[in-house]
Amino acid sequence: MSESAAEKLQTVKTPEGTFTLRLILDDLGDIYPGMIRYTVEVLRGTETVYTYAINTYESAPERSLFDTRKAAEIVFARLAHDVASRPHLYTHPRVFTRPLPGTGTADVVILQGSPRRFGNSAKIASWCDDEAVRAGLTSRIFSLQEMDIRPCIGCYVCYDQGYCPVEDDMPPIIRALEAASIVVVCTPVYTGTVPAPLKAAIDRCQWLHAREKILGKELHARGLLVAVAGRRGADPFVCTTRVVGMFMENLGIRPADPVLIGDLDRARDVETIAGVEYSVRAALSALLEPRNEG
Ligand SMILES: Cc1cc2nc3c(=O)[nH]c(=O)nc-3n(C[C@H](O)[C@H](O)[C@H](O)COP(=O)(O)O)c2cc1C
Repeated sequence: MSESAAEKLQTVKTPEGTFTLRLILDDLGDIYPGMIRYTVEVLRGTETVYTYAINTYESAPERSLFDTRKAAEIVFARLAHDVASRPHLYTHPRVFTRPLPGTGTADVVILQGSPRRFGNSAKIASWCDDEAVRAGLTSRIFSLQEMDIRPCIGCYVCYDQGYCPVEDDMPPIIRALEAASIVVVCTPVYTGTVPAPLKAAIDRCQWLHAREKILGKELHARGLLVAVAGRRGADPFVCTTRVVGMFMENLGIRPADPVLIGDLDRARDVETIAGVEYSVRAALSALLEPRNEG
């Protein structure tokens, strides 16, 4: 966030005390080109009791009748009227953002992308989980197929106050990723890329990107991709490594070399391929050792 300036101030005197309304402009151009966020704050004394925010990416930029600044000014005027006529509603902070869960964090967070509960990716996830626990760390596997994860709706509301308005099972994932020191993605290749539930979760992590940028919640995690594919060779993994690489890059997760396991149409079970379990465990334990942080 580069700039923050109070554009407009208004004082409202009521029997419940003196309120101040502020319209603040934040230039978020270093996150996305031309992104401006307008925030209207209502303060009772020095305490913020209500916040409304809107940004220029929430509406179509070209030929749109919707003017973000005007919308913020309308909210400002309506709030000033509301505070003056119903001040008792603003005596305590009114929080509309759903907080992230306070529990459920772990040192190692594993995103398991396959719908097959006992398939190859699930097995690999359990190896990683086991390796973390052996090293004395906590670990948590998210089996994405079994969760309610809806696609990102591209509303950009997460850049207002650092939360996503879509109601589903994403909050514990965001909370866990935010606190993790290692993030592992275990996934099959589906039609050249990652399966839909994993892609949905990755897209929804825009919310985490927003939290990092808006709230200054930087991630310092290391990342590991372990992918399996039916076909042989490097070709099936091209898109998957790119998608997961971009996911990690967006969030500031530093990736290790991925472990890519092909030829499963023939082998069927990853456990039957000599040396694979060892490679997966070794790749994870290399991340667990602080001297290999580099
Ligand atoms: C819908 C679907 C699409 C797939 N697409 C590909 C693909 O594009 N390339 C490939 O090599 N394997 C592909 N596969 C094979 C899987 O990657 C492979 O069977 C993998 O071992 C499944 O992992 P899992 O046991 O963790 O579910 C596909 C499988 C399914 C069910």
